[in-house]
Amino acid sequence: MEILSVKNLKVKIENREILKNVNFSIRKGEKIFITGPNGAGKTTFLETVMGFVPFSGEILLKGSSLKTESDFNVLRKSVGYVFQNPDDQLFAPTVEEELAFAPLVKGLSRSRVSEIVNRTLRFFEIEHLRDKPTYKLSGGEKRIVSVACVVTMEPEVILLDEPTTGLDRKRWNKLVEFFEETGSSLVIVTHDAELMERLGWKKFTMENGELREI
Ligand SMILES: Nc1ncnc2c1ncn2[C@@H]1O[C@H](COP(=O)(O)OP(=O)(O)OP(=O)(O)O)[C@@H](O)[C@H]1O
Ligand SMILES: [Mg+2]
Repeated sequence: MEILSVKNLKVKIENREILKNVNFSIRKGEKIFITGPNGAGKTTFLETVMGFVPFSGEILLKGSSLKTESDFNVLRKSVGYVFQNPDDQLFAPTVEEELAFAPLVKGLSRSRVSEIVNRTLRFFEIEHLRDKPTYKLSGGEKRIVSVACVVTMEPEVILLDEPTTGLDRKRWNKLVEFFEETGSSLVIVTHDAELMERLGWKKFTMENGELREI
């Protein structure tokens, strides 16, 4: 079953065509990479799918076309987004509150939320960061926390923009372990050739606003 798809997606910014007729879909549990040169439109593509950028064409969640802001609010409950720049994503006073935010918004009980948060802190080996303000984290710590706080949402699909940038070997391996184990569908935008080689999933390239499989 296709969870998320786009049809004839076009984005124009300041009269420049940034995305040109992009067609794409991802099934439940499917995991894919998108690579391609700087400025090709990869981040714009993910932001458009999340409903942050005006577009023409169609974005569909489980077959229904999304049009209004409230349609995209529904999408944002089942599609998680890890920003290219963690500073655009992290906002809560502490790491623990950051991780708890999504499951609390979902309406889960306090005890269920703390179970999910504890499990996630343990999995990513970031328990020592629990009470740290997110603005005091190092670059690599911010990166891993920004992934962890999308994981606590338990989304059906996760879009990740350059998730391995700045990670040391230990954290890189941890992310790979997560990518392999998760049941969520994954769309990973990356320049990390070693990551693509290691996981061996289907690859697409975005060039000049056009997406094609390679
Ligand atoms: N808000 C904006 N205003 C003007 N131009 C924009 C805006 N957002 C993106 N662009 C332009 O759209 C093009 C695609 O940018 P985008 O960030 O999607 O590229 P990318 O493929 O993610 O690149 P990178 O690999 O460097 O992250 C660039 O030429 C960029 O300058
Ligand atoms: Mg980008």
